[in-house]
Amino acid sequence: MSDEPKSKNITWHHGDVTQADREKCHGHKAAVLWYTGLSGSGKSTLAQAVQTALFERDCETYVLDGDNVRHGLNNNLGFSPEDRTENIRRIGEVAKLFADAGIITSTAFISPYRADRDEARKISGDMFCEIWVDADLAICEERDTKGLYKKARAGEIPEFTGISAPYEEPKNAELVVNTGKDNLEECVKQVLAMLTEKGILS
Ligand code: ADX
Repeated sequence: MSDEPKSKNITWHHGDVTQADREKCHGHKAAVLWYTGLSGSGKSTLAQAVQTALFERDCETYVLDGDNVRHGLNNNLGFSPEDRTENIRRIGEVAKLFADAGIITSTAFISPYRADRDEARKISGDMFCEIWVDADLAICEERDTKGLYKKARAGEIPEFTGISAPYEEPKNAELVVNTGKDNLEECVKQVLAMLTEKGILS
């Protein structure tokens, strides 16, 4: 897909209610919590558990989940490198819009390419927090919650991340959680501690 926008003669319209106004109203800062990791590493589970913890604190929060978004907005994309790049680009933009609405926005996508994650980081700027859900391939494969690793090993799913397609590990993640070592409760605590440390939660 070309980098050149097709739309011409368009003008950015600034809203009267600013992000800062919304943050004040919500009682916390907006953020994009970008969970990345192998399939089965626990991205969605952790993002959901953090969402529940935030919701219980009356925070405005929402999770954009890879499998779910691929049922709708991104159902015209597959798993080639180009399609994954477009998948992540769109979600980077959507996450930015959610954050603009003052929401603590989580995304749970494998997002295997460093360059794609860096582009998403550029879109959301200071609000972007990369969280590497680091679980060894062996652990993810053993869990195989969706039965996809077995199929990928049998050659039934092409370009499967970790098996026949790459996962480029983050180099500058704001947080690394290890779901193979720490339990869910512990991982949630680590994310909440980061949010407090960054002043997103007060
Ligand atoms: S991404 O690479 O483009 O970020 P995304 O997170 O949206 O991927 O979707 C990953 C999910 O799609 C996996 O959790 C799995 O359920 C499913 N899936 C189906 N085919 C593949 C594949 N070839 N590689 C990885 N995940 C796949």
